[in-house]
Amino acid sequence: MPIKTVVIFGTRPDAIKMAPIIRCLEQDDRFSLKTISTAQHRSMLDDVLKVFNIKPDYDLNVMKARQTLPQLTGNLIYALDKIFANEGFDLVLVQGDTTSTFVGALISFYYHTVVGHVEAGLRTGDKYHPFPEEMNRKITGVLADIHFAPLQSNKEYLLREGVSEEDIYVTGNTVVDAILAASKKPFFPSNELKSIFKTNRKIILITAHRRENWGKPLENICKAISLLARRYPDLEFVYPVHLNPAVREIVFPILSSQPNILLISPLDYITFSHLISRSFFILSDSGGIQEEAPTFKKPVLLLRETTERQEAVKCGSVKLVGTSKDKIYENAVKLMEDRKFYDSMSVNVRNPFGDGKVSERIKNAILHHFGIANEFEEWN
Ligand code: UD1
Ligand code: UDP
Repeated sequence: MPIKTVVIFGTRPDAIKMAPIIRCLEQDDRFSLKTISTAQHRSMLDDVLKVFNIKPDYDLNVMKARQTLPQLTGNLIYALDKIFANEGFDLVLVQGDTTSTFVGALISFYYHTVVGHVEAGLRTGDKYHPFPEEMNRKITGVLADIHFAPLQSNKEYLLREGVSEEDIYVTGNTVVDAILAASKKPFFPSNELKSIFKTNRKIILITAHRRENWGKPLENICKAISLLARRYPDLEFVYPVHLNPAVREIVFPILSSQPNILLISPLDYITFSHLISRSFFILSDSGGIQEEAPTFKKPVLLLRETTERQEAVKCGSVKLVGTSKDKIYENAVKLMEDRKFYDSMSVNVRNPFGDGKVSERIKNAILHHFGIANEFEEWN
């Protein structure tokens, strides 16, 4: 009998990181696969599903503009309950640290279903950074039965929290599979982007959306970018702005009037992967971008106070600069003017997060856990 597996995702990053696993499991007849999109995100998620040609079996359509976290959590549990009441699964896979992830793990627990947590064991150790993701992933870790830890350090966190070693598999991060696949596909940028790509001008890529940065921190980030754009009129600053109104209403008033700052809607994943590879460096508070940038040897100045991806810092690609205007400005100027500093974040970087075969490793880990395969070879 195939393992009746369901993959739950709801936001842009969980869909990107689940897509390679979906591809891998649907081609193996030892699995019977269903997918649930909670649609915690709508257009940002649909863009990803289109790129990877995923058609969810269920679409819960829970996104509402300006939905609060308690409302989102409540809506998700009710919507998932309707599916779980009518379907029996052997295995539920959830990814990362979003609210869809944590509620997906919770509903599986209520229905006594085995939960596999993809991207398990990431921790900053600070309850409110990032918010609410640190708690989402900790709670998911408590509920999970199988933990797919990207790296040894993530396994160590889980062991310290009392997880049994035989339930942890070190696999790498599927985002490397996803970005390698996306960056090989042809892309069709908008005219605005096409003309920027055609010039020899350096591109500084920006993303910032985290809840703990709303308000003053995001204002500081924008002011630093504004100063940089004035100091370097020949650079192109490209910022695909997250669709959350709480983000947009801070970013647009500060940055929309400068000629070398392009504020655009979120990009589809293929275009975005090409933009990473064409950029000179990146300013971001994203989780996933810390794992993608090393593939292209692109320096990232991380606009956060903490990171759960210390290996990105250790491999040289990421520097934690926080959200002080001066610190962001000074580090960006250093990347522009100090070749040695730039090279230290670029030339010798090797991506520690994976090799493009991570989803295959996760499939093998599941087979091992269900007693179907004897061997599992971990990522190191
Ligand atoms: C969520 C995740 C965060 C992840 C981020 C990735 C939670 C609590 N947060 O944050 O971990 O880093 O996704 O992007 O799970 N919106 C749209 N269209 C979209 C997507 C969002 O209009 O396609 C707007 C809506 O007004 C929505 C708001 O953005 O209410 C916030 O979305 P939500 O999923 O609650 O949080 P994010 O900040 O996107
Ligand atoms: N991304 C994208 N289009 C964009 C901006 C980001 O496809 O315009 C991708 C990016 O490559 C990464 C993921 O979205 O894989 C990160 O999403 P986000 O920063 O929203 O979430 P986080 O990783 O911080 O949870």
